[in-house]
Amino acid sequence: MNIDILLGLQWGDEGKGKIVDALSPGYDVIARFQGGPNAGHSLEFNNVKHVLHLIPSGIFHPGKLNIIGNGVVLDPAVFKKEVEELGLPVSEIIKKLIISKKAHLILPGHRMLDAAYEFSKGSSKIGSTLKGIGPAYTDKAGRNGLRVGDILRKDFHERYQEHLKNHLLILRNYDFKYNLSEFENGWFEGIELLKKFSLVNSEYLINELLAENKHILAEGAQGTMLDVDFGSYPFVTSSNTISAGTCTGLGISPKQTGEIFGIFKAYCTRVGSGPFPTELNDETGEKLRETGFEFGATTGRPRRCGWLDLPALKYAIMINGVTKLFMTKADVLSGFNPVKVCVAYNINGQETVEIPFEHDAVLDPVYIEFPGWNENISNVRDYAELPETMKQFIGFIEEQTGIPVTMVSVGPDRKETIFR
Ligand code: GDP
Ligand code: IMO
Ligand code: MG
Repeated sequence: MNIDILLGLQWGDEGKGKIVDALSPGYDVIARFQGGPNAGHSLEFNNVKHVLHLIPSGIFHPGKLNIIGNGVVLDPAVFKKEVEELGLPVSEIIKKLIISKKAHLILPGHRMLDAAYEFSKGSSKIGSTLKGIGPAYTDKAGRNGLRVGDILRKDFHERYQEHLKNHLLILRNYDFKYNLSEFENGWFEGIELLKKFSLVNSEYLINELLAENKHILAEGAQGTMLDVDFGSYPFVTSSNTISAGTCTGLGISPKQTGEIFGIFKAYCTRVGSGPFPTELNDETGEKLRETGFEFGATTGRPRRCGWLDLPALKYAIMINGVTKLFMTKADVLSGFNPVKVCVAYNINGQETVEIPFEHDAVLDPVYIEFPGWNENISNVRDYAELPETMKQFIGFIEEQTGIPVTMVSVGPDRKETIFR
């Protein structure tokens, strides 16, 4: 059996949590392979909204195994809060969630460094979620990290102190005032909670499960345009958010990847700094933010909003090898007339569909306009019943990308989903 992958094709927040939750009944295992508590994955059922940061979005389904893979960076304090606020008995979560010993720990020093680096950048700041992601992945690549499996070693506390000492030395170079106890708050309690979970070399487990023909879904975090290699560097996160990241983040071979579900919003949003060619700094952008309730699930920041960007979408499909497209937040576009789609960029009078290397290139989007629709589509469950103009819009995306849109999401609830 192969592993299916679901990942974001834009700048994150495409609705991955909702869709993973909706697809979970068809899988035995749901696994996170990269990112950390910078992610905020929302899902809704029985009129309750849940936001997950580290725990895979399959956790609410009975009988499903959830895995936090080696590619994830885990903050024990965030983990503890998430476990306590999930609304499930801790004993049940312990049975359903397995954590890789090789996942790196986000230390309090990483969060302090993240803040110090961001503040020192002034107006060129990345807009990081300040969860310590960049410094944790830096220490991983620099071979200075502490991993989940290390918490079981007798010398863990001495090793922690050594790391802290090094982080505090670096911090001396920055004009950053900190209160260590604030950053350590909940962290050691989180370590004690982690010890109650199954901490394993999850690459063996995942490969055994595949050999047993179990259905596994890999849940991406962030989005392709935030990938450390292919996103709008340096305005990116610090992991490989793309399909290739599942191999290194879970310990599977490229031969074992199955369907690659690419998920995108019917428009675009971005939270944090960096290029966003179709951004709308006008009433239409404001209307998208209000109608789509576009505020960050992790930081609460207002998301920047704009029209769908086809060159960026096609780029993401190419990098990931997407086999099926899922479109979310289709309901939000009701009442917009016209609906626009960017099909190319104009750079210094030259039209191109290639995303430029320079992050500060001035792009003028070239738009195609579609007639809008006014119907409320939240109760539609059959594709044929969607407004004709909306089907034209979807048909155009399929024709342009060559990939079928096999799922349309029409609301935040797990039931508000149209499978084709
Ligand atoms: P993720 O990070 O990709 O999991 O996405 P987020 O949870 O950060 O952001 C998506 C937001 O849109 C959340 O508030 C979801 O509840 C909501 N959402 C997801 N799908 C839909 C949809 O089809 N329609 C509407 N109106 N909201 C949706
Ligand atoms: P999910 O999984 C949207 C953005 C931050 C910032 C940049 C780097 O919910 O889609 P980092 O904290 O990683 O150093 O921030 O990436 N970012 C996200 N934007 N959704 C996310 O995750 C994000 N995770 C990071 O806003 O611009
Ligand atoms: Mg999110």
